[in-house]
Formats: sequence, structure tokens, C-alpha cells
Amino acid sequence: MLNRVKKLPAGFVWGGATAAYQVEGATQADGKGKTMWDDYLAQQGRFSPDPASDFYHLYPEDIELAKLYGLNAIRVSIAWSRIFPSGTGEPNAAGVAYYHRLFADCLANGITPYVSLHHFDTPKTLFDAGDWLNRATIDAFVRYADFCFGEFTEVKNWFTINELISLAFSQYIQGNFPPSHHFDVTSAIQAEHNELLAHARVVNLFKDKGYAGRIGLIHVLEPVYAYPETPENQHAAALEDAFMNRFLLDGTFKGEYTDDTMALINELLDANDAHLTIEPGDMDIIKAAATQNDYFGMNYYQPAFVAAYSGESTNRFNGTGEKGTSDFKFKGVGQHVKKPGVDQTDWDWNIYPEGMYDMLKRVAREYPESKTIYITENGLGYKDEYQGVGQLINDDKRIDFLDRHVAALLQARAAGVNVQGYFVWSLQDQFSWANGYNKRYGLFYVNFDTQAREIKKSALWFRELGRTIGS
Ligand code: BG6
Repeated sequence: MLNRVKKLPAGFVWGGATAAYQVEGATQADGKGKTMWDDYLAQQGRFSPDPASDFYHLYPEDIELAKLYGLNAIRVSIAWSRIFPSGTGEPNAAGVAYYHRLFADCLANGITPYVSLHHFDTPKTLFDAGDWLNRATIDAFVRYADFCFGEFTEVKNWFTINELISLAFSQYIQGNFPPSHHFDVTSAIQAEHNELLAHARVVNLFKDKGYAGRIGLIHVLEPVYAYPETPENQHAAALEDAFMNRFLLDGTFKGEYTDDTMALINELLDANDAHLTIEPGDMDIIKAAATQNDYFGMNYYQPAFVAAYSGESTNRFNGTGEKGTSDFKFKGVGQHVKKPGVDQTDWDWNIYPEGMYDMLKRVAREYPESKTIYITENGLGYKDEYQGVGQLINDDKRIDFLDRHVAALLQARAAGVNVQGYFVWSLQDQFSWANGYNKRYGLFYVNFDTQAREIKKSALWFRELGRTIGS
């Protein structure tokens, strides 16, 4: 069954990733507060976040499957509004107890938990007051993080925030996350900066207070290639790269937005009559954190191929899995184009493992302060076909995708990049924020009518490869 990858290195972290809101369900249970999604999804009426994959109740089953299929790690997130139902105030004992049970179960089964504090699910009270655009959210996040570090001492691997850019981009550029603004560039860049500031304050606190364990954050990185390679298109690619990757990578690991990066960002802001506000002291905080990250979580799905564009911004989002229905044109930046020969998923995502290799090499070369890298998400969204109770689901397409990407990772390792683990997105099927339940990623199929789990062929591939770790 193995294709290109024959063997994994000793000590390799081989895990599956999840996010609280996408798997837990139980959105009203045991005192949980609302998030930014509950009313939004109810108003949209497209799908319900309940019961999702019912991980709130079925986690023992999923952890057992993870163990059976050779995983040694799991990425989960804590739902902030289970701990602090309105983002601040007094902790909710039932929510705290749930995560203690979950972590205990992981550890009892030899599965190391890697825990994010924020995965796209700001508590509604804070969201209504401006979300990351309001600095009160940063203060609340620092308090919530401090509480979690003190409480969940069984956790030794922390991530502050998942994909700062995706959140800002989906909320304020693409408009498919609440509050659904389109090309509100000022809000997007400000949210990026404020989230980074929140991350930096939490890292500084973690180190100042001497909490045990390791801490970092997760960026999704999107390599941007000019296509065709003309000077105009190369400039467009540099602008998009600055917005999607460089701004946050510079801030995270260099502790500054370098002059070269800011020249590109300012060009992009000017073209959109947008601005960024950096308050006195912000950069000192960011600088202090930059060398204190213990590791870096890199999510990788796809690259963008970009050509220059001088018209108005427009965006069509493929949220259905109907191939060829997306379109992205960003004023003063560029437009996304298809590169002949590069296959795409039903959701128009480019399939391009070379992009993972290129990005790993770039991070190691340009940002050595990232120290150790883990691929914290990578996977294929696919309409898996249910075969009946107890029947194996054939997802050869996913195996091919995963195998090619793990091969790219190992190639980067062989070229000297310190990448120490891989988390497949996702452990079990879960709903997709802007696409609902038909975009599946899991190693394990979830029958969303019965909550029964079925095995996909990719889980067998995963187990077989897991057995080679250090052999
Ligand atoms: C990442 C997120 O951006 O991509 C996940 O961290 C998300 O939460 C995943 O589900 C896949 O994206 P999508 O839109 O296909 O669900």
C-alpha cells in the first residue's frame, strides 16, 4: 500500500488534528457559552454545529481508534467559552473537568496532546465587542491562557492561536466567517497584528511565570508563485506573499515587520485606502516573544498561482464542492489563476506537495528562530462515499495526497530542515467552517446520522507508516 514513503524517522510525531468547535458538538452543554458561530450559523441555516462529531461524548472512542491506528499524538483545541462562558469572569467547572478527562484519556493511551488555545472560536461576548479588533479581547485571552497553563499542567505542548491569517482573511477579506466583511483590508491587517500581539503577550507570560512545557503558534503558509513568470506577476506574488505569509512570519520570529515587508504591505494598504495602527509598546512585546517560541506549527494545504490585476476586488467562494466555482481578484495585489498541469480538489484547492517542500525550506532558511517545525495540519477535503456499517471506505485519492506530502516533508528533512512531526487534518471527519458536512478530511469516517465511526483506507496507510517510525 505504501507509495513513495518507506520509513519515518525515530521519535517522529505522527498525529491527527481536530478543533474544538468542529468536533465537539454539545454547544450548549454544561454551561458552555456561545461562540461567534452559534447565532451566525443558525441565521444562515446551512448546517448546524450540533452534534458535529460528538467528540464531547465520544472522545474515548476516537482516542481508542487513534491508538489502534498508530497515532502517537493528537492536536485538540480548548473551547475558550467552555472555560470562560463569556470570555472573562469566573471559570466554568464542568468545562474545566471535561478537558481534564480528555487529556487524561489521551495520556492513558499513549497519545500526546498538542493543545491550541484558540481555533477560530472567539466567545460571542468578546466577538460582539469587536473580536480581535478590540484590545479587550487580547487582555481576556491572556487571562484565559494563564488560567489554562496553571490548570492543565498535564499538557506540555501548547499553541496559542491557530492560523491568525485565515481568521482575519476569512472574516474581513473573503467574508465567509462572521462578521462577513468583504475586502475590509484595514480590519484584516489590524486583526493580524492584534492576534500576533496576543500571541506574544501569552508567550512572554508563559516564560516569565516559568510554566513547564513548550509553546508556539500555528501559521498556515501559502507559497505564492507568479504564473506566468513575468516581472508584473512576480510583483503581484510578492504582494500576496507579504500579506499571507511574510508579515506574520516576520513578526513572529524576527519581532519586527521588516522594511522590505512593510514596503509591500504599505503598497497593498495604499491601493485599498487601508491603514494599520501599531500602538507604542506593541513592537517591544512582539520583539520579546520572537526568540522565546519553542517550536512552530505549520499548516499547509495549497499554494496560490498569481497574476497581476488592476481592477476592483471580487471574490466567489466555492463552499459546495462544485469544481470551478471560485474566483479571487484582489485590487492592487493580484488574481488567482490556474497553472496548467496542477490538479485541483472539488473545492478548487491546488494539489501541490512541492509547495510544502518550498515553504519548509524557506522557513528554515529565513526564520531559523522557528527552531523545530511540526506540520500541524495537512489533508484532502473529499466527498468520501459511505459503504455501509463496518465497510472500509476507499479513499485512495487521499492516500495519494497524504503520501506525496509526507514524502515532501521527508525530502525537506533530508535537505536539513528540522521538521519533527506531521498531523493529518483530520483525525475523524468533522464539519468544515464554511462548507459544512460534505467536505470530509478524516482518517475515520463519521456517519453524521448515527455518529458511528467507519475506517477509511487512509487509516490503514497511516498505521502501516506509523509502524516504521525509527525502525
Ligand atoms: C484550516 C483550519 O484552515 O483548514 C481548519 O485550521 C480547517 O479548522 C482546515 O477545517 C480545512 O479547511 P476547510 O475550509 O476545508 O474546512
